[in-house]
Amino acid sequence: MLIVLLYTVVVLFGLVIPCLIILYAVFEIRSGFLGAPYVPTTSAFVNEILKKAALKKGNFFMELGSGDGRVVRAAVKNYGVRGMGVELNPLLIIYASLLARLQGLREIKFKRENFFDTDLKKCDTLFLFLLPKTLIKLRPKIEKECKRCLVISHGFKIDGWDKYLMEKQNRKLFPTYFYEIASLRSQ
Ligand SMILES: C[S@@+](CC[C@H](N)C(=O)[O-])C[C@H]1O[C@@H](n2cnc3c(N)ncnc32)[C@H](O)[C@@H]1O
Repeated sequence: MLIVLLYTVVVLFGLVIPCLIILYAVFEIRSGFLGAPYVPTTSAFVNEILKKAALKKGNFFMELGSGDGRVVRAAVKNYGVRGMGVELNPLLIIYASLLARLQGLREIKFKRENFFDTDLKKCDTLFLFLLPKTLIKLRPKIEKECKRCLVISHGFKIDGWDKYLMEKQNRKLFPTYFYEIASLRSQ
């Protein structure tokens, strides 16, 4: 019995955990190159941001680069929206899906995909916490695919969209910007 326990501990700490850490690091480096590294939105800001977004029940909420899915999970749980998180890192997809299941959230899906390939046509609200250079690359895709959409960019403003800015939540670190795409189209 003691030998089995010892063997399990050795395999877990000597093999499984180091492998997971290496895998995670590899996925993170890839994410960093393709969009942004994983830095979660501070939990205390999530409700503040969602409250300002005035989400409507049944709307479709997407989080591009969803990490542990904390924003889309809170939106589904507290506002009754349908949610989707798109994320490159498969370990984060597994973790976010597990948390959603533990919370009993049904109207939520996590998809492992490069968000530059994601179909945005049906989304009503888009949440982004990405690097400025990635936001610039995403801008034409959002303009093309989103007919009427609230785009929430946490952390960084989207260059070129200043005149379509509806609201800004000021914070010392990581303000949040709210953009309305319908007004963008009518210009
Ligand atoms: C700054 S984190 C934000 C995480 C989460 N949205 C939050 O606010 O807590 C950015 C996330 O985007 C993911 N990511 C970066 N580039 C991506 C891409 N091209 N496609 C999908 N996910 C990407 C990263 O793996 C990371 O989890």
